[in-house]
Amino acid sequence: MSPNIGITPKNLKKSASILATILSNEMTLYVKTRKFHWNISGNSFMELHKLFEEQYRILEAQIDEVAERINQLGEKTIGTMKEFIDNSTLKESPKEYASQKNMLSELLENHEQLVTEFRSYIPIFENETNDAGSADFVTGLLQEHEKMAWILRRYQV
Ligand SMILES: [Fe+2]
Repeated sequence: MSPNIGITPKNLKKSASILATILSNEMTLYVKTRKFHWNISGNSFMELHKLFEEQYRILEAQIDEVAERINQLGEKTIGTMKEFIDNSTLKESPKEYASQKNMLSELLENHEQLVTEFRSYIPIFENETNDAGSADFVTGLLQEHEKMAWILRRYQV
């Protein structure tokens, strides 16, 4: 049964498809942040090992919220690694093990890219799909990414 919340079925689908892209990117960044948590080495090992854990836990919570919001809009939520990779705009680096410095700059760039992409989605929710709930929801996600980016940026010297 489709949700009767004042958004047309076509617009519900469009909102959900933007959210599926967001979900895929959150998954990619979650896995990448875990990889860096596992492989970090260097003089700030324990500090960054813990920082990356703190950030992947935030991403994990976001993932669940985004997935459930897609369901709330009446759509099925993708849930395979293949679909996440296919729908992700962030790139992975298989077989590569970045230095501490490059891990920090790669994560920073990824968070900044998501902040920029999310900002571009907000007017679509507001003006095209009539989905104020998703506009507000994605604004909240954007703010969390801005905060994670700020922390990572403080390590750039
Ligand atoms: Fe761990």
